[in-house]
Amino acid sequence: MPAKGRIVRIVGPVVIAEGMKGSQMYEVVYVGEEKLIGEIIGLEEDKATIQVYEETVGLTPGEPVEGTGRPLSVELGPGLIGSIYDGVQRPLPSIWDLVGPFIRRGVKVPPLSRDKKWHFIPKAEKGEKVEAGDFIGVVKETPLIDHYIMVPPGTHGKVVEVAPEGEYTIMDTIAVLETPDGKKELNMVQIQPVRVPRPYKVKLPASGLMATGQRIVDLFFPIAKGGTAAVPGDFGTGKTVLLQQFAKWSQADVCILVGCGERGNEMADVLTGFMELKDPRSGRPLLERTIVIANTSNMPVAARESSVYSGITIAEYFRDMGYDVFMMADSTSRWCEAMREVSGRLEEMPGEEGFPAYLASRLAEFYERTGRVITLGKQERIGSVTVIGAVSPPGGDFSEPVTQNTLRIVKVFLALSKMLAERRHFPAIDWLESYSLYIDAVADWWNKLGPWKEMRTEAMAILKEEADLQEIVRIVGPDVLPEREKMILESARMIRDDLLYQSALHEVDTYCPPEKSIKMMEVILKFHKLGMQAVQKGVSVKDIKTLPIRYRIARMKELPYDKFIEEVKKIEKDMEEQFQNLIKSKVMEAAAR
Ligand SMILES: Nc1ncnc2c1ncn2[C@@H]1O[C@H](COP(=O)(O)OP(=O)(O)O)[C@@H](O)[C@H]1O
Ligand SMILES: [Mg+2]
Repeated sequence: MPAKGRIVRIVGPVVIAEGMKGSQMYEVVYVGEEKLIGEIIGLEEDKATIQVYEETVGLTPGEPVEGTGRPLSVELGPGLIGSIYDGVQRPLPSIWDLVGPFIRRGVKVPPLSRDKKWHFIPKAEKGEKVEAGDFIGVVKETPLIDHYIMVPPGTHGKVVEVAPEGEYTIMDTIAVLETPDGKKELNMVQIQPVRVPRPYKVKLPASGLMATGQRIVDLFFPIAKGGTAAVPGDFGTGKTVLLQQFAKWSQADVCILVGCGERGNEMADVLTGFMELKDPRSGRPLLERTIVIANTSNMPVAARESSVYSGITIAEYFRDMGYDVFMMADSTSRWCEAMREVSGRLEEMPGEEGFPAYLASRLAEFYERTGRVITLGKQERIGSVTVIGAVSPPGGDFSEPVTQNTLRIVKVFLALSKMLAERRHFPAIDWLESYSLYIDAVADWWNKLGPWKEMRTEAMAILKEEADLQEIVRIVGPDVLPEREKMILESARMIRDDLLYQSALHEVDTYCPPEKSIKMMEVILKFHKLGMQAVQKGVSVKDIKTLPIRYRIARMKELPYDKFIEEVKKIEKDMEEQFQNLIKSKVMEAAAR
């Protein structure tokens, strides 16, 4: 019997209720006459502390609080893809809900359509023994996604009936199992508590490149499938743009974009874009592989937490079908700030900078749900969940607790630099401060396309040397540098401007396939090599700078892939010629003297 209590106190997003005997920790409750959605986050005898996922303004003591007997959960099934949800998985009827004053309360709209019919094709047979994760059937959710209907976690038995191929709603029974607890009817919906990770067979190391289409990330600071990454940066350094670029162009099967406490108009803009943009690999609209969860700054603070957990749970569900899922959370700092606010209202003992002591463990638990796994189910498959979180440290100070605790967990650190953003060098990822611990995990993937690891090491060494030389230049000026070092500065400039700089706003350059990225790096390093050889033969860097090929190298990024492939062959040939001519004229000049 779910509890029926009364509100005794309201403190911001937190409500204290009495008469809640029999409730459970993390049980969902309906708060007030309007039945706002809340979750029990503290329980002492019959007194429950409830975090309310909707606006609490107007609630009064004495209003009823009703237990539901179930934990905060998401509904999983066909219809998720292309959906735009708020923090408690209510579909947003219009993206403009993201912008306007957000006042909908207590509305219980089901997350997945009850009426829509899906074309179900059975995959299991009558008499077959099935376990959790086994495929019962499949529906084509979008042209890009086959949505497998799986035996839910914790269930096993013998198939006594399976629906024939045909049109069904998600609530129609599509199979009946004979289980140890009796007959069980299965439909196409799974209800999954969001705080409980979905089970899998084996966790594997992150491996293979989660190609993002952003050169500096893919080439220099790669994210592996099943990996974790963070993008900390001050206001305006490009966190949101970068995460949205990932949602648009990464080579994931399913992308989940969680907007958490950030501005609604940014999300509305990106969504309008998603409806028009096409996946470069399939040519299909991007929304056919995307799910958006939006808890924007105008929405209730506590639901930031549920939006993050809902996102990761949906990610695990598609992972379990064998997909590579990529989730972006913008911004995890806003979620942590919500934790701080709720904790403060509860008068818990504050930790560093007022954040609760459990900040670190919450973050760790969340990122722990990423990974590449052998999924449950007899149809052998590997799926993965990759997560990148934006971090917004106040004043861009990376020493604050959220950044520090995140850094301890994630394996890729994309540090955004205020200085680069001010110079309009985008993405403003600081190449000296950032790192990826997945170099070996993605080396095999990359090496199919070329000697990536060696080239990456060389390019980064040039940038490192540039940074050291700049110190000298600052003191004594550039003229005293030997030609060899001037060449380093020139090559470094090309790496920065012609390779790492990438405009999200440029029609072509917004997305760079890995095949193109690595070839661009190769061409620039070749220029560097030829330049160094020329310098040794007495050519001055001043003359190298006048070579017309430099202009064509700078334009490579603007060429669509097929044109680029043609042009790059010519560039390589012409580049050799131009350097040879330069050396020849140098030799002749010397002979004439
Ligand atoms: N990759 C990029 N290409 C072009 N412009 C960018 C890029 N990243 C950021 N910008 C510019 O910087 C602005 C701020 O970026 P934004 O992602 O909103 O910052 P943040 O989320 O860190 O506050 C954008 O509106 C855009 O003009
Ligand atoms: Mg932002």
